[in-house]
Amino acid sequence: MITTRLTQRFEMEHPIVCAPMAMVCGGALAAAVSKAGGLGILGGGYAGTIGEDADLEEQYRMAGNTPIGIGFITWAVEARPEAVDWAIAKRPKCLFLSFGSPKALARTALDANIPLFCQCQTMGHVREALDAGASVIVAQGAEAGGHGGRRSTLPFVPEVADLLAKRDPDVLLLAAGGIADGRGLAASLALGADGVLVGSRFWAAEEALTPSAAAARAIAADGDQTVRTTALDSLRGVPWPDEFSFRVLRNRLMDEWAEREGEAAADFGAMKRSYNEARVRGDLDVAATIVGEAVGLIHARLPAADIVAAMVAEAETALARGARQVS
Ligand SMILES: Cc1cc2nc3c(=O)[nH]c(=O)nc-3n(C[C@H](O)[C@H](O)[C@H](O)COP(=O)(O)O)c2cc1C
Repeated sequence: MITTRLTQRFEMEHPIVCAPMAMVCGGALAAAVSKAGGLGILGGGYAGTIGEDADLEEQYRMAGNTPIGIGFITWAVEARPEAVDWAIAKRPKCLFLSFGSPKALARTALDANIPLFCQCQTMGHVREALDAGASVIVAQGAEAGGHGGRRSTLPFVPEVADLLAKRDPDVLLLAAGGIADGRGLAASLALGADGVLVGSRFWAAEEALTPSAAAARAIAADGDQTVRTTALDSLRGVPWPDEFSFRVLRNRLMDEWAEREGEAAADFGAMKRSYNEARVRGDLDVAATIVGEAVGLIHARLPAADIVAAMVAEAETALARGARQVS
């Protein structure tokens, strides 16, 4: 057993949280991770504003009575605060906000006594999240799959740990970005985190909404094959704030465009229709397979409970080996 402030405060067995991945972490995956002793967070994504989301109410119902959290993409859901009201009315284990200032939406969670988790990509974001009343900060490094910033997990997590120790020692810290096995969990604890937020590894869980062809591509890939770029959001016409880029697996479209960010920005929305059509027909040469650098550590599609159990066992081994090296 690995006991941390996170497991104690949130009554979890293991310090492992499944990221609120839009279109990937539905009720089945979120509940599977919670049942396995971690915490699953339903991926509310853009909450309908972009028209790509699975039905949240239905996904929430699929979790049954298992306690889960609910997460949203902040800049998108700001225009739809009723989605946050919907989430709070479910009394989730947490409201998880990422990508944008949490200030405007935080009050709803805090007034209802729902813990606020804020995923941060810079020290500035961390200060904003603390001002907004976050009880858990997720320090997300650029290795992460999906959207993110520029900081790397290894130096970013301890820098955030130092700030929290000085400014708000009761606020907990999760490390995110590139953590897919027990070595990553052990390293995160050594860096000062109270637990980890895992996306890509659970993206490939059996219970994820991930199409099997995408999972097969990811399993065959190594970590060299992902790229972080703003070009894809520009081409598909999704108005992400400039500070965020998107890490995906290279494919035909990304080989052509990933390094042409300026040109793609000038062509904003040029592929909106054709991209969505490719996504619907499952054309993975165009539609993105969204995973992080940790894809090189994913070798099989497994049940979420097996992933959690293996991570904990490996982390225990790594931590015990580390302890033996100390004389
Ligand atoms: C397929 C996919 C979709 C994601 N969607 C979201 C999202 O909707 N909201 C969010 O806050 N983070 C999202 N993320 C980022 C995760 O919250 C997390 O930071 C990241 O997965 C951690 O890095 P890892 O992928 O290396 O585990 C997504 C990540 C992936 C892989």
